[in-house]
Amino acid sequence: MSSNERSFTLTDNSSGESWELPVMHGTLGPDVIDVRKLYAQTGCFTYDPGFTSTGSCESKITFIDGDNGVLLYRGYPIEQLAEKSDFMEVCYLLLYGELPTADQKAKFEHDITYHTMIHEQMNTFLRGFRRDAHPMAVMCGMVGALSAFYHDSTDIADPKHRMVSSYRMIAKMPTIAALAYKYNLGQPYVYPKNKLRYAENFLHMMFSNPCEEYEIDPVLARAMDVILILHADHEQNASTSTVRLSGSSGANPFACISAGIASLWGPAHGGANEAVLNMLEEIGDKSNVGTFVEKAKDKDDSFRLMGFGHRVYKNFDPRSRVMRTQCHKVLDALGVHDEPLLEIALELEKIALEDEYFIEKKLYPNVDFYSGIIFKAMGIPTTMFTALFAVARTVGWIAQWNEMIEDPSQKIGRPRQLFTGAEQRDYVDVGQR
Ligand code: SDX
Repeated sequence: MSSNERSFTLTDNSSGESWELPVMHGTLGPDVIDVRKLYAQTGCFTYDPGFTSTGSCESKITFIDGDNGVLLYRGYPIEQLAEKSDFMEVCYLLLYGELPTADQKAKFEHDITYHTMIHEQMNTFLRGFRRDAHPMAVMCGMVGALSAFYHDSTDIADPKHRMVSSYRMIAKMPTIAALAYKYNLGQPYVYPKNKLRYAENFLHMMFSNPCEEYEIDPVLARAMDVILILHADHEQNASTSTVRLSGSSGANPFACISAGIASLWGPAHGGANEAVLNMLEEIGDKSNVGTFVEKAKDKDDSFRLMGFGHRVYKNFDPRSRVMRTQCHKVLDALGVHDEPLLEIALELEKIALEDEYFIEKKLYPNVDFYSGIIFKAMGIPTTMFTALFAVARTVGWIAQWNEMIEDPSQKIGRPRQLFTGAEQRDYVDVGQR
């Protein structure tokens, strides 16, 4: 980041006083107006609920150009990474900033693999949940509880502790997600296998059972790997901002990631993939698509097209295009040629993209629009969709958390407000109310 000669002049039209606000610019994307001294100079706060025009931090990890449908992880386009890389390599890239050499990648993958088991007592903790607990509830609880098992890596000031916690989180998330799934089913928990690669191991822990060996379909394993890549990081989205804000108080990484999981669960965010499938099932047939598109346009109807729209992408979400390709590959590999939900999704996409309302509001399919169809075709239940998103996004949360702690300008996050409540008044005894 660098300051340049550009600045803005802020003038108080009532007093005529003016202030110079410096502008900083990064390597890509909009410049930022530095308002850190604004309150001290003017006595005023800025006001931006939802942070639609607010940069919360400086970052070198992920860049999104919403107008041109660009997503870069450490400068590399998501389309190239989805085609040529794999999730372990992308994890290394997000954490360390560069693509690994063959040796670096092999060591990283080994270290992650040998951290995939969880403490056996976590199993006891799990049994406190009802069998029908939503997997995201289980993941929130289990990940937060990890801080009770790993006191040896919660000193966030120690880079070694941070990296050990980072590896543990990335490694254990699939194990915990699969555990939640098996617990829902009433099936025994499947231990990770060190000879399997990350995405394969995840499918193994989800679908193996003591009665028969699960044959890993390489097409599904690759599809899962690509899906993990697509969901790995996404700049300062709601759950990442939650992790950063939690971490800014010095909270341990496990607690911060648990907070991120909670935020991701919302249907406006990561919970949208589950909501998309429920919506497609509610639409039921492609002949009903028009009716639902009209509902989505009706201001008096709270219904929204799940999987459509995005705060940043005002053109296509590049991830949804890759996801659509993967969707066809998975359905072909599984011999599924008449998936009605895909028919409905394709019809919905076609109608919405031609509709004036969606064009005017720049609403396009986002990453969640097709993922649910792939997951369903792979035999993954709807309630697990957001848990898979959380598995993938853990590396992004962890990379952003590390960057926040290593940022010398980092402070505890503490927004202010516009207060419109009661002015000071004296207490009234109950007999006088
Ligand atoms: C993710 O931030 C990230 O990067 C998130 C994510 C990531 O990788 O971390 O990309 C993952 O969360 C993707 C988004 C998944 N959510 C959904 O698919 C839920 C459906 N989408 C909407 O709820 C909405 O589009 C949001 C939440 C995604 C974006 O909300 P914004 O930016 O606050 O936009 P908005 O709600 O102000 O909408 C702008 C206008 C509104 O109309 P007006 O009030 O201006 O008249 O567009 C309308 C909205 O009513 N609108 C929709 C719509 N989304 C927005 N109308 C119908 N259907 C929709 N889906």
